[in-house]
Amino acid sequence: MIDRFQIYNQDALETLRQIPDKSIDFVLTDPPYNLSQYSTGNMKFDWRADVNNDLAEWDRDFDPADLKDEFIRILKPTGNIFAFCSYNLIGRWHEIYDPIFDTFQFFVWHKSNPIPKFRKAGFLNSCELIVCMWNKGHTWNFGKQNEMHNFFECPICMGPERLQDPKHPTQKPLRLLKHLTGIASNEGDTILDPFMGVGSTGVAALEMDRKFVGIEIEREYFDAAKKRLQSVQPDIFSIQNRAAALIS
Ligand SMILES: C[S@@+](CC[C@H](N)C(=O)[O-])C[C@H]1O[C@@H](n2cnc3c(N)ncnc32)[C@H](O)[C@@H]1O
Repeated sequence: MIDRFQIYNQDALETLRQIPDKSIDFVLTDPPYNLSQYSTGNMKFDWRADVNNDLAEWDRDFDPADLKDEFIRILKPTGNIFAFCSYNLIGRWHEIYDPIFDTFQFFVWHKSNPIPKFRKAGFLNSCELIVCMWNKGHTWNFGKQNEMHNFFECPICMGPERLQDPKHPTQKPLRLLKHLTGIASNEGDTILDPFMGVGSTGVAALEMDRKFVGIEIEREYFDAAKKRLQSVQPDIFSIQNRAAALIS
């Protein structure tokens, strides 16, 4: 039984094997994209910082199939799985997970401030895909029709939210993560991110009064995630409300 959060500086698959059966309400994760093999390297400029071109040491050798057995084992029957997914892996996610789940959908995050195409030869990479899957009876907080498009627009992570030390090349914005968390989980639920980076899913979870289980293999990202999670204050009002509901 976890209190608020439990995090591991280990390999995702190894650690998933230690998580109890049917203990996770929502997997919200951002695994490697296997994009570095297509990258021509970070772009260098005299007048600004390098532009990250999907070149990261950890961004290789990821196969969504490797997670399948553990995801099925640890997810509650009411659970949802949402995973950020690059264009080159969407077919693989669909091949492996569509036969297992009742529903497989995709969701688009439109970045309102993508990195410009300095050489003006191609589209700006302004969209990211998220694959979403569940079985009948899953937790689903349907808002108004116009709030439930499989599309969400917000800027990439920046300003004070963006960590500078360490700088994670793919830190996700809390606004997006909270939108997804509100739809696919309830207060008190346990959310898992086995590739948590600097812990953004966890911060969204704790700030929305959920519990969090996170895994990250790189020590410096793990340490940054721990610091961020420790600094999220418990929401006293919702604790009081829940206590009052239990008493009445
Ligand atoms: C796309 S990033 C996640 C970024 C995260 N969403 C954030 O906002 O910080 C993927 C992360 O997975 C980590 N990772 C890669 N392979 C891993 C493995 N086998 N086990 C655990 N973490 C791994 C990488 O170090 C990287 O930080």
